[in-house]
Amino acid sequence: MSAEYKAPSEVKDLTIYNTIELEDLAKEVMPKGGFDYLAGGSGEEFTLKRNVQCFKSQGILPRVLADVEFPETETEIFGQKLKVPFIMAPIAAHETKEAGTAKGISEFGGTIMSISAYSGATFEEIDEGLQGNPRWFQIYMAKDDELNINILNEAKADGASAIILTADATISGNRDRDDKNEFVYPFGMPIVSRYLTGTGENMSLNNIYGQSKQKITPRDVEFIKKHTDLPVFVKGLQTAEDANVAIGAGADGVWVSTHGGRQLDEAPGSFECLAEVADAVAGRVPIVFDSGVRRGEHIFKALAQGADLVALGRPVLFGLALGGWKGVRSVFEYFETDLKRVMQLAGTQNIDQVKAARLKALDNWN
Ligand code: FNR
Repeated sequence: MSAEYKAPSEVKDLTIYNTIELEDLAKEVMPKGGFDYLAGGSGEEFTLKRNVQCFKSQGILPRVLADVEFPETETEIFGQKLKVPFIMAPIAAHETKEAGTAKGISEFGGTIMSISAYSGATFEEIDEGLQGNPRWFQIYMAKDDELNINILNEAKADGASAIILTADATISGNRDRDDKNEFVYPFGMPIVSRYLTGTGENMSLNNIYGQSKQKITPRDVEFIKKHTDLPVFVKGLQTAEDANVAIGAGADGVWVSTHGGRQLDEAPGSFECLAEVADAVAGRVPIVFDSGVRRGEHIFKALAQGADLVALGRPVLFGLALGGWKGVRSVFEYFETDLKRVMQLAGTQNIDQVKAARLKALDNWN
């Protein structure tokens, strides 16, 4: 394990005031290379910052006299009941690999783990942490279709109940921090190593992306559906046009994301693209939203703007760095408590009411 990625191995519950401070705390305990890989984005990091800031483009209009004492956060997707309207985004990172994240999520319970194709752990290792918890699988495709069928079969046998096709990362964004740190992956990638020239260990992200399939088209959506018979999400879109193309190709869900500002820089923030996509989708398929979610207010606004589920990214990994699997659980608990507080203050009893809540466009927010 590269020293650049070593994080503290302490396993402890965290007291979280907000997840923005969690990033500062993680910075103190993580080596620079690993921290920059996690926290950094592409280019000038405009989109990275904008993802968080642009939630301020809309205000939550509270309703009072609303008879709310115990807000209910339960929801469901594809018949799967969830305790909360947020799940884990696919992220490949950390020296406990994905097993620590998986354990934290299964101990929290009632949500979904998205397993990245670039995971440092095998399906079996992740399953030890997940203990039967629901999971989706995110694929970075190989150039060779036989290998893709192979990977999809394994994911399905592992119990994935949906496949996420990440479409915004056919090559790596220009991540200056990683380039300056000469950051290379500190561990192998057992799921995709079958199509890499190496295992993934000591390889740069540019190299790994370069060996994955770059020509991603609507045919890939059809291909995945045909070979898995599972619902397919297209992840990483920001426009009505792409939502229509994805649904036209048979996608069962769309996933609005800027990849956490790590791919195309100077794209708009993710939240400011959500309304356009939701209008185009018009309820035909569920919408997952991610990028920049740091507070209960952000989850609330994303749901009110048309998302069905929100995916958490970096805050969970900062929790993992600071408190291992218990830190992951603490982050999920923080978001649950914070969302309930926002729901109550906004006068919304349940997730249907959150989705129907009114936002007000704000001037001069940035
Ligand atoms: C990611 N993300 C990502 N997405 C994906 O589809 N496959 C992957 O392997 C990864 N890997 C990854 C690593 C790291 C370190 C980060 C921070 C992100 C993107 C991820 O799924 C999600 O879109 C973003 O993390 C959301 O942005 P925030 O909330 O983290 O800012």
